[in-house]
Amino acid sequence: MTTESPLLDVRVRSKRFAQQDVLRDVHLQLREGECVTLVGASGCGKSTLLRIVAGLDRDYEGEVRLGGEATAGPTRDIRFVFQEPRLFPWLTVAGNVAFDGRGPVDDARVAALLDEVGLAGFGSRLPKALSGGQAQRVAIARGLFVQPRVLLLDEPFSAVDAFTRLKLQELLLSVARAHRIAVLMVTHDIDEAVYLGDRVLVFEADPGRIGAAIPVTLQQPRDRDAPDVGQAVASVRRALQRAHAL
Ligand SMILES: Nc1ncnc2c1ncn2[C@@H]1O[C@H](COP(=O)(O)OP(=O)(O)O)[C@@H](O)[C@H]1O
Ligand SMILES: [Mg+2]
Repeated sequence: MTTESPLLDVRVRSKRFAQQDVLRDVHLQLREGECVTLVGASGCGKSTLLRIVAGLDRDYEGEVRLGGEATAGPTRDIRFVFQEPRLFPWLTVAGNVAFDGRGPVDDARVAALLDEVGLAGFGSRLPKALSGGQAQRVAIARGLFVQPRVLLLDEPFSAVDAFTRLKLQELLLSVARAHRIAVLMVTHDIDEAVYLGDRVLVFEADPGRIGAAIPVTLQQPRDRDAPDVGQAVASVRRALQRAHAL
């Protein structure tokens, strides 16, 4: 596979819930290591799309291809980080991180991942002894544990305070780059979509579809205060207005 051929190729011709046409003709591709962000009005089908990509919803017309191969259900190569951390309260932090692993737990690897997400020494804590931001870091470490090729995130930082959110954005960028993981992330925060995305997909509703794909051609590492960040944010906002999402 050349670096130009897509790692992930998603085609949803149609997704319905009962009489409702939720997604229609959604086609998106991710290259290795690329970060694509998805914005759109509430209820336009973003989470449904992510669940389809994750293999959690197979009741649709279309296909999800990873590395050229059609997927059939959940795979270790595609991991999902939800809005809330969804940790098992009875397992330690380390136990949660290693939960999806096979065979004996590699303690050194768990420790290295916890270190990477800024939680060195937290392995033996229980989730109830974590802040919301820390718990979401554990969820990210868990997502990375099986070394996926694609990480899906559904509004992952919505429940944390603004300061923690900025730090988690940096964390996501650094781990995705370090592991060359492709990221597909839903967010309702336009600044976040631009700051993290190599491309921002703006969804339209009824039925859900990609209304605009806005490339973000800012330098890496990005500077949040650069003037062209403001221009990219304005383009996304205009696209959301055209999609009647604002
Ligand atoms: N399990 C379900 N059963 C029936 N309708 C659903 C289900 N999940 C989502 N929907 C409907 O599908 C539409 C898209 O939902 P969702 O993908 O959650 O939107 P978003 O994430 O963009 O807010 C909404 O109208 C929602 O009510
Ligand atoms: Mg949603």
